Amino acid sequence: MLELKDVSYSYKNIKALKNINITIEDGEAVAFIGPNGSGKSTLMKLINGILVADSGQYIFNEEKITSSKLQNNTFSKNFHKKIGFVFQNSETQLFCSNVYDEIAFGPRQMGLKEEEVKIRVTDCMELLKIEKLQDRAPYHLSGGEKKKVAIASVLVLNPEVIVFDEPMNDLDPKTKRFLKELLINLNNAGKTIICSTHEFEYVSGIFNRVIVFSNEHIIIRDDEYEKVLSDRDFLFENNII
Ligand SMILES: Nc1ncnc2c1ncn2[C@@H]1O[C@H](COP(=O)(O)OP(=O)(O)OP(=O)(O)O)[C@@H](O)[C@H]1O
Ligand SMILES: [Mg+2]
Repeated sequence: MLELKDVSYSYKNIKALKNINITIEDGEAVAFIGPNGSGKSTLMKLINGILVADSGQYIFNEEKITSSKLQNNTFSKNFHKKIGFVFQNSETQLFCSNVYDEIAFGPRQMGLKEEEVKIRVTDCMELLKIEKLQDRAPYHLSGGEKKKVAIASVLVLNPEVIVFDEPMNDLDPKTKRFLKELLINLNNAGKTIICSTHEFEYVSGIFNRVIVFSNEHIIIRDDEYEKVLSDRDFLFENNII
């Protein structure tokens, strides 16, 4: 379970999030929606310990997450094993010289034996259908190929909570349908899914809940996904559609 209590965050003098309160239970599938710049990615970075709140509290699995804990190598490794993050911009995520090493990076960091690493990496490449890319340089891949490699590099660690920031970006329609099924299957397998998206038509059927952000960087609604999606007036008035 993760819980944010009265969390605010600014980038120097640019306000990104104000007084955020959320509790997400294990096994939930939650969508984050809202206009550009409303704070979705910032909140995902806070949830993943990439940023630390200016004020308020973040509690993950009953433990308070603080910058000093995140700077501790053992704590940080353990935390990142439990929670995975697919960045909005895949280029931020990819830094190895070939796709195989990219996907193997996390498991190697965790100290897994090379045989185990190979099994996991091969499974994930098969799942994402990217076996043919294994010797390619991630930097030279197409946008959608990069996204698939980024997703594989997160799934390979089998985290309990998976945070996807606009995962449908750059994917072709067939791959979007595939990703939708993958999210449903991961959730059915007990994973907690948190996903931001502007693409409602592809993601309907995945989520039980949606959290809506506004231009004022606050949460304006936290409700059942299908209920909010059918409330066209609400979505229109709040610059979502
Ligand atoms: N590194 C940064 N430095 C300064 N300001 C930033 C930085 N990253 C984001 N911001 C600002 O913080 C606010 C929230 O940005 P964020 O990326 O969280 O929005 P978002 O809801 O994810 O938007 P989008 O739908 O475009 O992905 C915006 O005003 C943005 O300009
Ligand atoms: Mg974003």
